Amino acid sequence: MEALGMFNHLKRQILQHLMNRYFLKLRPVPEVEADTTEIHCSVPPSPNRVDQLLSRMTMQEKIDYISGVNGFSVRAVKRLGLPPIWMSDATSGVRGVDAPVTVFPSPIAMAATWNRSLLKEVGRSIGRECRATGVSILLAPGVNIARVPVCGRNFEYLGEDPFLAGVLARSYVSGVQSERVGVTVKHFVCNNSEFDRHKSDSIVDERTLRELYLPPFETVVQAGAVGVMTAYNLVNGMYASEHGLLVERLLRQKWRFTGIVVSDWNSLYSTRGPLRCGVDIEMPGARWYTQKSIQELLDREPEYAERVDEKVRRLLSVFDNLGVLDRPVRDADAPVGSLEHAEIARKTAAESIVLLKNDDLLPLERTERKSIVVVGRFAHHEPIGGGGSSFIKQGFPGVSIGQVLGERASASSIEAIDGRWWRSAKSRALLRDADVVIASVGFDHVYESESYDRQWELPRYDLRVIHEACRLNTNTVVVQHAGGAVHMAPWVALPKAVLQCWYLGQSSAEAIVDILFGTVNPSGRLPVSYAYELEHYESMHAYPANFDSVSLARVQGGQGDPEERKTWPLVYGEKLMVGYRQFDTVGPDPLFPFGFGLNYTDFAYTDMQLESTQRGWCISCRIMNSGEYDGAEVVQLYIRPEVSSREHPFQQLRGFEKVFLRQGESKQVSFVLDERSFCEFDEDSESWVRVAGRYTVVLGSSSRDIRLTSTMVVKKSPGN
Ligand code: GLC
Repeated sequence: MEALGMFNHLKRQILQHLMNRYFLKLRPVPEVEADTTEIHCSVPPSPNRVDQLLSRMTMQEKIDYISGVNGFSVRAVKRLGLPPIWMSDATSGVRGVDAPVTVFPSPIAMAATWNRSLLKEVGRSIGRECRATGVSILLAPGVNIARVPVCGRNFEYLGEDPFLAGVLARSYVSGVQSERVGVTVKHFVCNNSEFDRHKSDSIVDERTLRELYLPPFETVVQAGAVGVMTAYNLVNGMYASEHGLLVERLLRQKWRFTGIVVSDWNSLYSTRGPLRCGVDIEMPGARWYTQKSIQELLDREPEYAERVDEKVRRLLSVFDNLGVLDRPVRDADAPVGSLEHAEIARKTAAESIVLLKNDDLLPLERTERKSIVVVGRFAHHEPIGGGGSSFIKQGFPGVSIGQVLGERASASSIEAIDGRWWRSAKSRALLRDADVVIASVGFDHVYESESYDRQWELPRYDLRVIHEACRLNTNTVVVQHAGGAVHMAPWVALPKAVLQCWYLGQSSAEAIVDILFGTVNPSGRLPVSYAYELEHYESMHAYPANFDSVSLARVQGGQGDPEERKTWPLVYGEKLMVGYRQFDTVGPDPLFPFGFGLNYTDFAYTDMQLESTQRGWCISCRIMNSGEYDGAEVVQLYIRPEVSSREHPFQQLRGFEKVFLRQGESKQVSFVLDERSFCEFDEDSESWVRVAGRYTVVLGSSSRDIRLTSTMVVKKSPGN
């Protein structure tokens, strides 16, 4: 087993090396002066500027315009004064540019804050850094649902619940686009696996698509996102990049999306399909949208010329509306790597940490002269992000927990030891005599990455660290880095405290020490459910058994000729039974439930009110900080149908508010349930139908810690 594990890890490292050669080539930031001279769009701003530009473009220029160049750019058309339009990854910050960008926490950490306004600040900061580095389109946010806990890119997404993911993504997008930088919400849709993403065919029924996997995209598109990125995989037998039902009929016609549809990199598999009903621009370059292939198609079917025009028109309209056609590529006054952004990154990191367990060990008293020992894989550096296109190298490896402890604590001694320390009597004595041991374990950008799924178990070395540390010293805190649930059941009883620390970006060590000492009261809440066992997730029952094997051939095969590719069905047989929807409806009980997170203080919930108003159902309650620390509570609202079943989940999240309260302070928290809150998607009529009946409305500190309950009756909608 050990040999196979080591071989697997070697393949991960080779893949990372290959990906980094592509992803981490740092592009020089364009010079402002040069671009100022270049930018003189031949057509002045006006309501019909785009049509005028289009009418001046030759067919060759149009065909060139619908495919990328230089890896991440839309071609300039110098003859018409159209500038290059740069794109960049992604949700944790600007990647691939040679500038001291801010490395924000991973998106799953952002989700764990449950803090809309904070995500808007993060989005705005990254938008500014895009402007500072000449990026006009940010290839973010990723909003794919965490269907299985081992998907290699769950760290890049916003968890298992579509309402939480949609609301938080909307805030993030609002921030980015407020800086007149466009986004491409991704990956549209059902890219919930990295095992074989180029060839897997997500087989999912319409209702599950509409109620679970599509809502985050719908929420963000309706809020004005200017771009959508299609996924690599197939959905119900059609490639996402040429999906007539999803792209043409749903996104463009039903949702009236007028923005741009950008392909994922090398994710087209024909010319005619996407041209007819798919992406507007092929990235990173023309493999199917080539001059030759399109011209040949036009010779056979001249009517496709209008399709080409449509795509160019949409691209130019988005760029014109963003102001990109009339400004230097780079804004020399926009900040990059500023102290303000660093503070936002650190605040986000600290607010994302979830206190999973605390047997009266935390917070540590900073002033006491304690001996602290830090052990484990991350004793000397922090894993700042997951692997692949989102991985921002700047700031890696950054400061360690031990270094920050040394700066902040008046501890008598602080030691940091990695390797097989348990073999040394001296090290064992050090741990035995310490006041506190911090075991920093988990994954990093090699274990958890785009292009392959990750293992369920912590690395064997980490398990040994946890067992040896807890055997020597009961005052052990486990700091766990991962992009979601891992197999904790075998060891979670051993340490006195456990912090879920995701990938926290450049401020990782500072944020962790903030929580350890109570400088920040932990307020993170799980955006995903943690099961006792992997097989407890129904979604794993029809999942590849060798999901954690890494195959270079499989990854490479994904880019091959569609004719020779062997696509395979990935059946979403569990339907709506994903995450807490499953565990709360049909079980089994999870180890840590969705929305869970401990705090150093306590909150009292009182005075729940329900009222039917013109705006919808208004629900409110009063929250009081009844404990000994200032802190933030995440009040969660779930609705429960009178009778639950697999088709009607026991409860669903329909509201959340994060409220900061000083000791003794209380505030009213309010929610509005809109029409969609009580609807289910009816496949026959292909419409959202209000489900009348009696509902229980619950308010709580997690999906399993319900504090207030009330009931309401939803009447049939008129005409039903
Ligand atoms: C990658 C990812 C996508 C990213 C793009 C550009 O393959 O799937 O999320 O934005 O290519 O790096």
